[in-house]
Amino acid sequence: MSKGRKPMSDYQNEYQHAQTQPELFWRQQAQALDWYKSPVTILANDANEIERWFPDGVMNTSWLALDYHIEQGRGDAIALIYDSPVTGVKQRYSYLKLRDQVAKVAGMLAELGVQKGDRVVIYMPMIPEAAMAMLACARLGAIHSVVFGGFAPSELAVRIEDAEPKVVITASCGIEVTKVLPYKPLVDKAIMESRWKPNNVIVLQRPQCEAELDGARDVDWQTAFQNAAPHDCVPVLATDPLYILYTSGTTGKPKGVVRDNGGHAVALKYSMTAVYNVPQNGVFWAASDVGWVVGHSYIIYAPLIHGCTTVLFEGKPVRTPDPGAFWRVCQEHRVNVLFSAPTAFRAIKKEDPEGRALAEYDLSSLQAIFMAGERLDPPTLHWVEEKTAKPVIDHWWQTETGWAIAGNPTGIERLPIKAGSATKPIPGFDVAILNELGESAAINQQGYVALKRPLPPGCLPTIWRNHDRFESGYLSQFPGYYVSGDGGYLDEEGYLFIMGRIDDVINVAGHRLSTGEMEEIVGAHPAVAECAVIGVHDELKGQLPIGFVVLKDGVKMDERLLAGELIHKVRDEIGAVACFKQAMVVDRLPKTRSGKILRRTIRQIADGERYSVPSTIDDPTSINEIERVLDRTTSPKETC
Ligand code: COA
Ligand code: AMP
Repeated sequence: MSKGRKPMSDYQNEYQHAQTQPELFWRQQAQALDWYKSPVTILANDANEIERWFPDGVMNTSWLALDYHIEQGRGDAIALIYDSPVTGVKQRYSYLKLRDQVAKVAGMLAELGVQKGDRVVIYMPMIPEAAMAMLACARLGAIHSVVFGGFAPSELAVRIEDAEPKVVITASCGIEVTKVLPYKPLVDKAIMESRWKPNNVIVLQRPQCEAELDGARDVDWQTAFQNAAPHDCVPVLATDPLYILYTSGTTGKPKGVVRDNGGHAVALKYSMTAVYNVPQNGVFWAASDVGWVVGHSYIIYAPLIHGCTTVLFEGKPVRTPDPGAFWRVCQEHRVNVLFSAPTAFRAIKKEDPEGRALAEYDLSSLQAIFMAGERLDPPTLHWVEEKTAKPVIDHWWQTETGWAIAGNPTGIERLPIKAGSATKPIPGFDVAILNELGESAAINQQGYVALKRPLPPGCLPTIWRNHDRFESGYLSQFPGYYVSGDGGYLDEEGYLFIMGRIDDVINVAGHRLSTGEMEEIVGAHPAVAECAVIGVHDELKGQLPIGFVVLKDGVKMDERLLAGELIHKVRDEIGAVACFKQAMVVDRLPKTRSGKILRRTIRQIADGERYSVPSTIDDPTSINEIERVLDRTTSPKETC
């Protein structure tokens, strides 16, 4: 060390190591896993010229998540706790019990002809069988694609058509607070709509609402499970896909993010120590849903690969039965790390602003609360910090990366928190802020948040059967970089601030949705000439979609009737989760002279922000139209 230079901190050391010697760094991390054949090659390009990790490593993710721990003498340790306030059921599964059940589910799938590389679509509520189905696919080397239960049949149909599954696995119903939602009719409708037909649909009957089965195609889970022989783990290459998870892009067609087996396991294992600082026998609770990436990574795979107890919670932060639900679960199961979205805590805060419910529970086991899915807004950060007296940690990631790009690496070094920042890049991620020309933006200057390639293990290598979309959507804008779709900046201390999406993706209650897709649905209404759907700020859910529609010439229609039809249409085609509840008729939309709708300006008006009318605007009076319908005539405005 040269005289006078400050020694590097633990975080800087580790970050530097991953930057300067990535192959050595990730080889060392890979050694924490039990491979059938350890990788000799650490990083190499595939046929698409995409960097792939551990290409000659052989392993099985289900082995790492279950059998390995049993082999290590930890079969009696609790792998999964199912806590379901909506049904009143609580169950505990040891590693041994979970492995045995997963092996039988794998046997059941194998009986139906599912083999390595085949796809299986899973459309299930938050029940242990959803976890078993995922791990059973992994056991066979089959590729699962879990679809969130809040999506409507058309969304499920699109995913079935793209993934071409041999089998679909579902349950007879989901339970949303007090509503019982029959799932089977939704699956039937989706299969009817889809051009691809699975051979079989496995249905887990729940007592709250039993489904009618079609004898030829449908299989009763319970019967098939009882008759199934346990199936062993099938060795796969590290680069073989583990799952496809569809996520919203800018168009109506969701993108099938592909996750490989080896890089995923290595990255998740590393994250459990480096990011979450949780010990092997710790209790980890990701209060999300298996239908989202958080659920894949941190309800199922990471906690189990690390040997933790994971909590699978079938409930909500509020109303199941009250805003004390999260704290009750933390106390009862001695949770060490809680992970959820800021919106969940805003919901709790709304119902229990003084934190009275919280005060009734013992949170002594809880080390830290992690948040992701949307920016952790400072008021929510401060409220949770104040009420819980625990470290509250924002971290930024995406379906595409599968784990945190930036965060507070609490297992390496707890960095000081800056409200509004996701903290610093996690070792392995090289975060750059680029301007339109692809040049590095100045400190504190906003730009495109991009990741310098190679991406670390765990990140997507392609889009399912559409590699061109991967190239055009993420890689071609700035050669050598992956473009995240988020805008943001780095400050003088290297803290990353994510300021929101720069594309047509919005974030509603931590759920990623495409306004482009909503526009396609709204625009297809026979009365609508054109439309714009934008995300406006919402106190609880972060953002909510709102539609502005222009009627076709000569069409006269009652505005409320039209709004009702559009709301119904979006709910019907995307699902209740879209939360599309507002549509307004305007005479015209603000556009540039080249015809581009000024969505950003509309959003700024709707959010009551200061905005400037772009000099390229075609018709400045169109702005007044938006102000009129939003009743924002007094909104601050600058004209340029
Ligand atoms: N199956 C069927 N329907 C579902 C569903 C599922 N799995 N999940 C949500 N829905 C429905 C809801 O019932 C609701 O329907 P409604 O319009 O008929 O009331 C609609 O989809 C909207 O759901 P949601 O946005 O979740 O609103 P909510 O009012 O039910 O709950 C929160 C709001 C904030 C409590 C909840 O969204 C939450 O806990 N979010 C944070 C955790 C999270 O899931 N984050 C994701 C990534 S970490
Ligand atoms: P998803 O792929 O559904 O996980 O959504 C990813 C998107 O959610 C990101 O591109 C961001 O826009 C947003 N997001 C997730 N976590 C954060 C965070 N901690 N801060 C800001 N935005 C976030």
